[in-house]
Amino acid sequence: MEIFNTKKALSEYLSLARKQHKKIALTPTMGALHEGHISLILEGKKHADIVVCSIFVNPTQFNDPKDLEKYPRPIEKDIELLKKEGCDILFLPSVEEMYPDANEQWHIDLGRLEQIWEGAQRPGHFQGVTQIVYKLFNLVNPDVACFGQKDFQQVMVVQKMIDIQNLNIQLIICPIIRSNEGLALSSRNARLSEAGKEKALVLFRTLTAVKKGFNEHVTFDNLQQLAEEMITQEREVKLEYFAISETRTLERAEKIENDKQYVAHVVAWIEGVRLIDNMLLND
Ligand code: PAJ
Repeated sequence: MEIFNTKKALSEYLSLARKQHKKIALTPTMGALHEGHISLILEGKKHADIVVCSIFVNPTQFNDPKDLEKYPRPIEKDIELLKKEGCDILFLPSVEEMYPDANEQWHIDLGRLEQIWEGAQRPGHFQGVTQIVYKLFNLVNPDVACFGQKDFQQVMVVQKMIDIQNLNIQLIICPIIRSNEGLALSSRNARLSEAGKEKALVLFRTLTAVKKGFNEHVTFDNLQQLAEEMITQEREVKLEYFAISETRTLERAEKIENDKQYVAHVVAWIEGVRLIDNMLLND
Protein backbone atom coordinates (compact mmCIF):
# COMPACT_ATOMS: atom_id res chain seq x y z
CA MET A 1 0.00 0.00 0.00
CA GLU A 2 1.24 3.47 -0.89
CA ILE A 3 0.77 6.17 1.73
CA PHE A 4 0.62 9.83 0.66
CA ASN A 5 0.47 12.84 2.96
CA THR A 6 0.38 15.55 0.32
CA LYS A 7 -2.08 16.43 -2.43
CA LYS A 8 0.80 16.81 -4.87
CA ALA A 9 2.21 13.30 -4.34
CA LEU A 10 -1.24 11.74 -4.52
CA SER A 11 -2.27 13.52 -7.70
CA GLU A 12 1.02 12.74 -9.42
CA TYR A 13 0.55 9.05 -8.68
CA LEU A 14 -3.08 9.07 -9.77
CA SER A 15 -2.51 10.98 -13.00
CA LEU A 16 -0.06 8.28 -14.03
CA ALA A 17 -2.66 5.61 -13.20
CA ARG A 18 -5.24 7.50 -15.26
CA LYS A 19 -2.91 7.53 -18.26
CA GLN A 20 -2.90 3.74 -17.96
CA HIS A 21 -6.74 3.83 -18.03
CA LYS A 22 -7.03 2.53 -14.50
CA LYS A 23 -10.38 2.95 -12.77
CA ILE A 24 -10.28 4.59 -9.35
CA ALA A 25 -12.52 4.13 -6.31
CA LEU A 26 -12.48 6.46 -3.32
CA THR A 27 -13.59 5.75 0.25
CA PRO A 28 -13.35 8.82 2.49
CA THR A 29 -13.11 8.07 6.22
CA MET A 30 -12.11 9.66 9.49
CA GLY A 31 -10.20 6.56 10.59
CA ALA A 32 -10.59 4.31 13.64
CA LEU A 33 -11.46 1.80 10.98
CA HIS A 34 -13.77 -1.15 11.51
CA GLU A 35 -15.51 -3.73 9.33
CA GLY A 36 -18.03 -1.11 8.16
CA HIS A 37 -15.26 0.96 6.58
CA ILE A 38 -13.57 -2.16 5.22
CA SER A 39 -16.80 -3.20 3.48
CA LEU A 40 -16.61 0.08 1.51
CA ILE A 41 -13.00 -0.63 0.51
CA LEU A 42 -13.93 -4.14 -0.62
CA GLU A 43 -16.92 -2.79 -2.57
CA GLY A 44 -14.59 -0.28 -4.25
CA LYS A 45 -12.32 -3.14 -5.35
CA LYS A 46 -15.24 -4.65 -7.29
CA HIS A 47 -15.62 -1.50 -9.37
CA ALA A 48 -12.09 -0.20 -9.81
CA ASP A 49 -8.41 -1.10 -10.33
CA ILE A 50 -7.17 1.24 -7.62
CA VAL A 51 -8.86 1.82 -4.26
CA VAL A 52 -7.99 5.00 -2.42
CA CYS A 53 -8.93 5.34 1.22
CA SER A 54 -8.56 8.71 2.91
CA ILE A 55 -8.23 9.13 6.66
CA PHE A 56 -8.81 12.68 7.79
CA VAL A 57 -10.60 13.81 10.95
CA ASN A 58 -12.26 16.78 9.31
CA PRO A 59 -12.48 19.68 11.79
CA THR A 60 -15.06 21.67 9.79
CA GLN A 61 -17.78 19.06 10.27
CA PHE A 62 -17.55 18.95 14.08
CA ASN A 63 -19.75 21.44 15.84
CA ASP A 64 -18.65 20.23 19.25
CA PRO A 65 -14.91 20.86 19.85
CA LYS A 66 -14.90 18.19 22.59
CA ASP A 67 -16.17 15.60 20.12
CA LEU A 68 -13.36 16.54 17.71
CA GLU A 69 -10.79 16.29 20.46
CA LYS A 70 -12.11 12.92 21.66
CA TYR A 71 -12.32 11.41 18.19
CA PRO A 72 -10.19 8.22 18.24
CA ARG A 73 -7.04 8.24 16.08
CA PRO A 74 -5.43 4.75 16.14
CA ILE A 75 -3.46 5.38 12.97
CA GLU A 76 -0.94 2.51 13.21
CA LYS A 77 -3.76 0.00 13.65
CA ASP A 78 -5.66 1.54 10.72
CA ILE A 79 -2.64 1.23 8.44
CA GLU A 80 -2.18 -2.44 9.34
CA LEU A 81 -5.84 -3.16 8.67
CA LEU A 82 -5.83 -1.39 5.29
CA LYS A 83 -2.70 -3.30 4.25
CA LYS A 84 -4.28 -6.58 5.31
CA GLU A 85 -7.46 -5.85 3.35
CA GLY A 86 -5.55 -4.96 0.18
CA CYS A 87 -6.25 -1.22 0.01
CA ASP A 88 -4.00 0.30 -2.68
CA ILE A 89 -3.55 3.86 -1.48
CA LEU A 90 -3.97 5.62 1.83
CA PHE A 91 -4.24 9.40 1.73
CA LEU A 92 -3.38 10.79 5.13
CA PRO A 93 -3.16 14.57 4.97
CA SER A 94 -2.71 17.14 7.74
CA VAL A 95 -5.32 19.81 8.49
CA GLU A 96 -3.06 22.46 6.87
CA GLU A 97 -2.78 20.34 3.74
CA MET A 98 -6.56 20.20 3.32
CA TYR A 99 -7.30 23.71 4.59
CA PRO A 100 -4.34 25.90 3.62
CA ASP A 101 -6.47 28.96 4.31
CA ALA A 102 -7.87 28.60 7.82
CA ASN A 103 -10.58 31.17 7.07
CA GLU A 104 -11.83 29.49 3.95
CA GLN A 105 -15.55 30.13 3.48
CA TRP A 106 -17.75 28.70 0.77
CA HIS A 107 -21.14 27.19 0.72
CA ILE A 108 -23.11 24.72 -1.36
CA ASP A 109 -26.84 25.24 -1.13
CA LEU A 110 -28.16 21.89 0.10
CA GLY A 111 -31.66 23.27 0.69
CA ARG A 112 -33.86 21.42 3.17
CA LEU A 113 -31.33 18.60 3.46
CA GLU A 114 -29.07 20.68 5.65
CA GLN A 115 -31.91 22.04 7.76
CA ILE A 116 -33.62 18.84 8.87
CA TRP A 117 -32.58 16.02 11.25
CA GLU A 118 -28.79 15.91 11.46
CA GLY A 119 -28.66 19.35 9.84
CA ALA A 120 -30.86 20.82 12.56
CA GLN A 121 -29.06 19.05 15.42
CA ARG A 122 -25.58 19.79 14.14
CA PRO A 123 -25.57 23.24 12.49
CA GLY A 124 -22.87 23.53 9.82
CA HIS A 125 -22.13 19.79 9.89
CA PHE A 126 -23.13 19.08 6.30
CA GLN A 127 -21.32 22.15 4.98
CA GLY A 128 -18.20 20.71 6.62
CA VAL A 129 -18.87 17.31 5.06
CA THR A 130 -19.42 18.76 1.58
CA GLN A 131 -16.33 20.93 1.91
CA ILE A 132 -14.02 18.01 2.56
CA VAL A 133 -15.75 15.53 0.25
CA TYR A 134 -15.66 18.06 -2.59
CA LYS A 135 -11.94 18.63 -2.06
CA LEU A 136 -11.30 14.87 -2.02
CA PHE A 137 -13.43 14.31 -5.13
CA ASN A 138 -11.56 17.08 -6.92
CA LEU A 139 -8.19 15.71 -5.95
CA VAL A 140 -8.80 12.00 -6.58
CA ASN A 141 -11.31 12.39 -9.43
CA PRO A 142 -12.65 8.89 -8.73
CA ASP A 143 -14.89 6.88 -11.06
CA VAL A 144 -16.79 5.58 -8.05
CA ALA A 145 -17.11 6.73 -4.46
CA CYS A 146 -18.27 4.32 -1.75
CA PHE A 147 -20.28 5.64 1.19
CA GLY A 148 -22.20 3.81 3.93
CA GLN A 149 -25.96 3.79 4.38
CA LYS A 150 -25.12 4.12 8.09
CA ASP A 151 -25.03 7.90 7.57
CA PHE A 152 -28.17 8.06 5.49
CA GLN A 153 -28.53 11.83 5.29
CA GLN A 154 -24.83 12.20 4.47
CA VAL A 155 -25.31 9.97 1.43
CA MET A 156 -28.21 12.15 0.28
CA VAL A 157 -26.09 15.27 0.78
CA VAL A 158 -23.18 13.85 -1.21
CA GLN A 159 -25.53 12.77 -4.03
CA LYS A 160 -27.03 16.26 -4.09
CA MET A 161 -23.55 17.80 -4.29
CA ILE A 162 -22.65 15.46 -7.18
CA ASP A 163 -25.85 16.53 -8.98
CA ILE A 164 -25.44 20.27 -8.34
CA GLN A 165 -21.77 20.31 -9.33
CA ASN A 166 -22.26 17.96 -12.30
CA LEU A 167 -19.56 15.62 -11.04
CA ASN A 168 -18.97 12.53 -13.09
CA ILE A 169 -18.79 10.18 -10.10
CA GLN A 170 -20.92 7.12 -9.37
CA LEU A 171 -21.99 7.05 -5.74
CA ILE A 172 -22.23 3.54 -4.33
CA ILE A 173 -24.26 3.15 -1.14
CA CYS A 174 -23.08 0.21 0.96
CA PRO A 175 -25.28 -1.56 3.56
CA ILE A 176 -24.83 -1.03 7.30
CA ILE A 177 -22.44 -3.55 8.87
CA ARG A 178 -23.56 -4.62 12.35
CA SER A 179 -22.17 -6.71 15.20
CA ASN A 180 -23.66 -10.21 15.54
CA GLU A 181 -26.14 -8.78 18.03
CA GLY A 182 -27.16 -5.93 15.70
CA LEU A 183 -25.22 -2.89 16.92
CA ALA A 184 -24.27 -0.77 13.89
CA LEU A 185 -20.47 -0.61 13.86
CA SER A 186 -19.14 2.87 14.55
CA SER A 187 -15.80 4.36 15.55
CA ARG A 188 -17.66 5.94 18.46
CA ASN A 189 -18.60 2.48 19.88
CA ALA A 190 -15.04 2.25 21.20
CA ARG A 191 -16.08 4.77 23.86
CA LEU A 192 -18.89 2.52 25.14
CA SER A 193 -18.49 0.06 28.01
CA GLU A 194 -19.70 -3.53 27.49
CA ALA A 195 -22.89 -2.60 29.38
CA GLY A 196 -23.31 0.46 27.14
CA LYS A 197 -22.99 -1.69 24.01
CA GLU A 198 -25.65 -3.99 25.43
CA LYS A 199 -28.00 -1.06 26.07
CA ALA A 200 -27.34 0.33 22.59
CA LEU A 201 -28.93 -2.79 21.10
CA VAL A 202 -32.29 -1.18 21.83
CA LEU A 203 -31.78 0.86 18.65
CA PHE A 204 -31.59 -2.23 16.43
CA ARG A 205 -34.47 -3.89 18.29
CA THR A 206 -36.59 -0.78 17.80
CA LEU A 207 -35.77 -0.38 14.11
CA THR A 208 -36.50 -4.07 13.52
CA ALA A 209 -39.85 -3.82 15.33
CA VAL A 210 -40.75 -0.69 13.34
CA LYS A 211 -39.91 -2.41 10.07
CA LYS A 212 -42.07 -5.39 11.04
CA GLY A 213 -44.93 -3.08 12.00
CA PHE A 214 -44.59 -1.13 8.74
CA ASN A 215 -44.90 -4.32 6.74
CA GLU A 216 -48.02 -5.21 8.76
CA HIS A 217 -49.53 -1.81 7.81
CA VAL A 218 -49.30 -0.20 11.26
CA THR A 219 -49.71 3.60 10.85
CA PHE A 220 -46.71 5.93 11.04
CA ASP A 221 -48.16 7.58 14.16
CA ASN A 222 -48.37 4.24 15.95
CA LEU A 223 -44.89 3.23 14.80
CA GLN A 224 -43.54 6.54 16.11
CA GLN A 225 -45.17 5.89 19.47
CA LEU A 226 -43.89 2.31 19.58
CA ALA A 227 -40.32 3.43 18.85
CA GLU A 228 -40.34 6.22 21.41
CA GLU A 229 -41.70 3.85 24.06
CA MET A 230 -39.17 1.14 23.33
CA ILE A 231 -36.21 3.52 23.47
CA THR A 232 -37.27 5.58 26.47
CA GLN A 233 -37.97 2.41 28.46
CA GLU A 234 -34.28 1.49 28.24
CA ARG A 235 -32.64 3.11 31.24
CA GLU A 236 -29.68 5.41 30.59
CA VAL A 237 -30.48 5.67 26.88
CA LYS A 238 -31.40 9.24 25.95
CA LEU A 239 -33.43 9.58 22.78
CA GLU A 240 -32.51 12.62 20.66
CA TYR A 241 -34.91 11.87 17.83
CA PHE A 242 -36.64 9.05 16.04
CA ALA A 243 -38.41 9.61 12.72
CA ILE A 244 -39.76 7.82 9.70
CA SER A 245 -39.04 9.67 6.48
CA GLU A 246 -39.54 9.28 2.81
CA THR A 247 -36.08 8.33 1.49
CA ARG A 248 -35.94 10.84 -1.37
CA THR A 249 -36.65 14.06 0.53
CA LEU A 250 -36.10 12.86 4.12
CA GLU A 251 -39.22 14.80 5.10
CA ARG A 252 -41.23 13.14 7.88
CA ALA A 253 -43.66 10.62 6.37
CA GLU A 254 -47.32 11.12 7.12
CA LYS A 255 -49.26 8.44 5.31
CA ILE A 256 -48.07 5.40 3.39
CA GLU A 257 -47.97 5.86 -0.36
CA ASN A 258 -47.39 2.77 -2.47
CA ASP A 259 -44.70 4.11 -4.78
CA LYS A 260 -42.52 5.55 -2.01
CA GLN A 261 -39.61 4.16 -0.01
CA TYR A 262 -39.31 4.87 3.69
CA VAL A 263 -36.49 4.90 6.20
CA ALA A 264 -36.67 4.88 10.00
CA HIS A 265 -33.79 6.83 11.53
CA VAL A 266 -32.74 7.38 15.09
CA VAL A 267 -30.20 9.20 17.22
CA ALA A 268 -29.67 8.43 20.89
CA TRP A 269 -27.07 9.09 23.57
CA ILE A 270 -25.54 6.35 25.70
CA GLU A 271 -22.72 6.98 28.20
CA GLY A 272 -22.18 10.40 26.61
CA VAL A 273 -21.77 8.89 23.13
CA ARG A 274 -24.04 9.99 20.27
CA LEU A 275 -25.19 6.95 18.29
CA ILE A 276 -26.92 7.05 14.91
CA ASP A 277 -28.71 4.24 13.11
CA ASN A 278 -31.36 3.65 10.45
CA MET A 279 -33.24 0.96 8.58
CA LEU A 280 -35.03 0.91 5.24
CA LEU A 281 -38.62 -0.16 5.83
CA ASN A 282 -39.79 -1.45 2.46
CA ASP A 283 -38.92 -5.11 1.86
P1 PAJ B 1 -16.64 8.00 9.00
O1 PAJ B 1 -17.60 8.18 10.11
O2 PAJ B 1 -15.26 7.54 9.29
O3 PAJ B 1 -17.30 7.04 7.96
C1 PAJ B 1 -16.68 6.78 6.73
C2 PAJ B 1 -17.64 5.98 5.87
O4 PAJ B 1 -17.90 4.72 6.48
C3 PAJ B 1 -19.01 6.67 5.70
O5 PAJ B 1 -19.45 6.57 4.36
C4 PAJ B 1 -19.89 5.89 6.66
O6 PAJ B 1 -21.27 5.91 6.31
C5 PAJ B 1 -19.29 4.49 6.52
N1 PAJ B 1 -19.65 3.64 7.66
C6 PAJ B 1 -19.49 3.91 8.98
N2 PAJ B 1 -19.97 2.91 9.74
C7 PAJ B 1 -20.46 1.98 8.89
C8 PAJ B 1 -21.10 0.71 9.06
N3 PAJ B 1 -21.35 0.20 10.26
N4 PAJ B 1 -21.46 0.04 7.95
C9 PAJ B 1 -21.23 0.54 6.70
N5 PAJ B 1 -20.63 1.73 6.48
C10 PAJ B 1 -20.25 2.44 7.56
O7 PAJ B 1 -18.62 9.63 7.44
C11 PAJ B 1 -17.52 10.11 7.66
O8 PAJ B 1 -16.48 9.41 8.23
C12 PAJ B 1 -17.17 11.55 7.29
O9 PAJ B 1 -18.31 12.33 7.39
C13 PAJ B 1 -16.55 11.67 5.87
C14 PAJ B 1 -17.51 11.21 4.77
C15 PAJ B 1 -15.23 10.87 5.79
C16 PAJ B 1 -16.20 13.16 5.59
O10 PAJ B 1 -15.31 13.64 6.54
